[in-house]
Amino acid sequence: MKLSTTTKSLDQVAKKYCRLIVTEDAPNVHRLVETKDGTLEYRLGAGKWKQMTPRKFRLFLRSIVQAAKSHQIEYLAIQIQWPLFPKLEKTYGLEWVYATVAENLLLAAYEFTAYKSKKTDKKQLKEILICGGLNKEAEAGFKRGQVVGHYTNLTRDIANTPGEDMTPNKLAAAAKKAVTGTKAKVTVLDHKKIKSLKMGLLDAVGKGASDKPRLIRIDYSGGMKSEQPIVLIGKGITYDTGGINLKPTGALHEMHMDMSGGAAVIGAIAAIAKLGLKKNVIALIPAAENSISDKAMRTGDILTSMSGKTVEVLNTDAEGRLVLADALTYTEKHLNPKAIVDCATLTGAALVALGQRANAVMTPNKKLQSDLERLGEESGDLTWPLPLWDEYKEGLTSSRADHTNMSGPADRLGGSVVAGAFLALFAPKNIPWAHIDIAPRMVSIPSDKLAKGAAGEPVRLLVKFVESH
Ligand code: BES
Ligand code: MN
Ligand code: ZN
Repeated sequence: MKLSTTTKSLDQVAKKYCRLIVTEDAPNVHRLVETKDGTLEYRLGAGKWKQMTPRKFRLFLRSIVQAAKSHQIEYLAIQIQWPLFPKLEKTYGLEWVYATVAENLLLAAYEFTAYKSKKTDKKQLKEILICGGLNKEAEAGFKRGQVVGHYTNLTRDIANTPGEDMTPNKLAAAAKKAVTGTKAKVTVLDHKKIKSLKMGLLDAVGKGASDKPRLIRIDYSGGMKSEQPIVLIGKGITYDTGGINLKPTGALHEMHMDMSGGAAVIGAIAAIAKLGLKKNVIALIPAAENSISDKAMRTGDILTSMSGKTVEVLNTDAEGRLVLADALTYTEKHLNPKAIVDCATLTGAALVALGQRANAVMTPNKKLQSDLERLGEESGDLTWPLPLWDEYKEGLTSSRADHTNMSGPADRLGGSVVAGAFLALFAPKNIPWAHIDIAPRMVSIPSDKLAKGAAGEPVRLLVKFVESH
């Protein structure tokens, strides 16, 4: 779908365009009418304009695309000088308004069709035309939103791809493809390099698979040479069988998306580079397939991490924290970061705690916590805090090694905070760090008004975070 703009007003556009008329009816009230001169008008409720909020606004924008799809409208014209804007514009700025428009129209238009053998015979939405002319600020927002929307959809493509076609090595290739045409540079650390860096945790998680682990590093230098980088780490488990602690049926079928954190940092840094933000950013994706074979890591194995700390494996399904731990140590030793944010589909427990409407944030840094909450609300990638207290580390002591990778095989309580506490053992001290457990938002839910499958979170949040940090 193409997004375009015109200085014409809504009633001046060519007849092929269906014109969207926004009403103050409830958001579920809509009607397609043919006017006397043969043009189509689509009347869509947005709810009371005075009560418009960012959350409602995003859903309203997506419902425009949903409506166009269900009525098989090919060309749609909309005008954004509605009375509903003053409030949003006043609070968030015109740039935000237009960025939100572009982002959400693109996100709603997305469908994952790469593996469909036949094209649908339904008419496709070809173009949305934004009428009324855009001033400089609006134009800037609109362009920004298109970039962020595009790369969020690219993230969804990567995450939706079957594990077979998105092995660690293929994920590295996807990262290279994602940043082509930008100033970001990809370096792939292969298995030999991983072993020579003594990344024993990343190595162990990948041992059961024939496709060996990779550490994917993407550097973007948009800032001054002297400026320390912001490091974005994304979990890149390309398929999570659970390992010897095999996941049961029902918990497995979505595990090709266990690299959603990795896909998100790829999308985010590609968008940041495309936007030319004046920041230094490094994305890091520890990528491995958590598979089963006689070569796979076992429970009871004692692994030596890059940090030198040893870890007793109590459960091979707690693999995400292992690969992230080595990535955190690599960050500390080699990247001299200003701040670190990791995102990972880390625990099913985060879904139990929050349902599917918010990502969980764990950080010892109150400022980061509140920034991520506020920017989540602005971007649409909502986050909510869980505690990251030292007390939770107590469960991770081992009689056989320095730490265990979970707190007791039978203990399923507070799984997300225990995972966060494990990461905290490896996070560099005195550098602001936040962990985002994105398992709750790995896939969309029907009320998101997005295609089924990967939700592409938290690309929008990460871009905003880097921009405002
Ligand atoms: N990738 C899973 C977590 C997950 C579950 C993500 C559902 C998205 C949806 C992770 O590697 C995992 O298996 N975690 C275990 C940890 C446990 C063994 C301590 C879990 O959540 O059960
Ligand atoms: Mn797992
Ligand atoms: Zn996993």
